[in-house]
Amino acid sequence: MFTELPQRIRVNEVVTRDGFQSEPEFVPTTTKVELINALAGLGLNKIEVTSFVSPRAVPNLRDAAEVFAAITRDTPTRYVALVPNQQGCARALELGVEEINLVMSVSESHNLANMRMTCEQSLQQFGQIADMTAGTGMRLNGSLATSFGCPFEGQPTQERILGLVDAYLERGLHSLTLADTTGMAAPNQVQSLCQAVRARWPELELTLHFHNTRGLGLANVLAALAAGVDQFDASLGGLGGCPFAPGATGNICTEDLVHMLTEMGLQTGVDLDGLLLQSERLAGIVNHDLPGQVRKAGPRRQTRPLPHSVKQLMQDGRT
Ligand code: COA
Ligand code: ZN
Repeated sequence: MFTELPQRIRVNEVVTRDGFQSEPEFVPTTTKVELINALAGLGLNKIEVTSFVSPRAVPNLRDAAEVFAAITRDTPTRYVALVPNQQGCARALELGVEEINLVMSVSESHNLANMRMTCEQSLQQFGQIADMTAGTGMRLNGSLATSFGCPFEGQPTQERILGLVDAYLERGLHSLTLADTTGMAAPNQVQSLCQAVRARWPELELTLHFHNTRGLGLANVLAALAAGVDQFDASLGGLGGCPFAPGATGNICTEDLVHMLTEMGLQTGVDLDGLLLQSERLAGIVNHDLPGQVRKAGPRRQTRPLPHSVKQLMQDGRT
């Protein structure tokens, strides 16, 4: 399984979007800006900064424009915003956002719950967004939420997903994210879908977005890696979740992902110690426990001081 893995893995941070969108408390704008600026120096491929969505739908991200205007965009990291419709795209264009993440669900019922649109209406919006952004240099990533299961409808067929990828590409979207919105994916399913997408569109830039709702997050990353996927979304501390999906919980944790990949000898270019520091800071910002594990246990190579009682036994010549 691990013989021919991609050697360089790109890691995208989504904590200030997926993480903060469903927090019980609004995170102050300046705190968001400071966190994004700190994360941007750590070697992440992209940072999904915020969402240009209805402030009534996601009140925690109502400061999206202020956040985008205030961050220092002076690193190689790509700063991304989630956009559901033309109105969101217009806001992103005004702020010179370099990439927008267009999101719709594979399942009609979750798209209606999340975006208050049918899938066809979302696709129409995306076609119009492609026209609006033509010639501006703005990149369009298309995300397919509930790609591995919908909390209302269960598992979609592979045929349905491949059909929607076709629809995205016909509308001129540049890259694709397959998202497991509520952690319903299993490794065999991940490998099979990733293989099918890569076989049909070998040149397409593909990202996998997992949630760890059922403890399968990093197992699913391994399955995607085995299918040749080299780009993953993750959230600092493992914070995250869709406010419009019952039972949704956090994304895979960025520092746990980078720790695993590094220990497997794969290059991410991400500063793990820097992530751990920011994750510690995040726990203070949201003021509750975070699911990430490496922050609590320490990296696996980090040893602990020998207990005094053991030192004593050694000194007494008992060993
Ligand atoms: N940015 C800011 N405001 C927006 C907006 C956008 N992209 N799109 C719509 N609005 C505003 C409209 O101006 C209108 O405001 P008003 O009532 O003050 O006049 C209001 O939202 C309703 O507009 P409408 O077009 O009827 O939208 P809707 O109520 O049918 O909702 C969405 C559609 C897509 C805007 C909404 O469902 C949404 O924002 N969903 C995002 C959900 C999300 O982020 N989920 C988690 C991430 S996957
Ligand atoms: Zn998510």
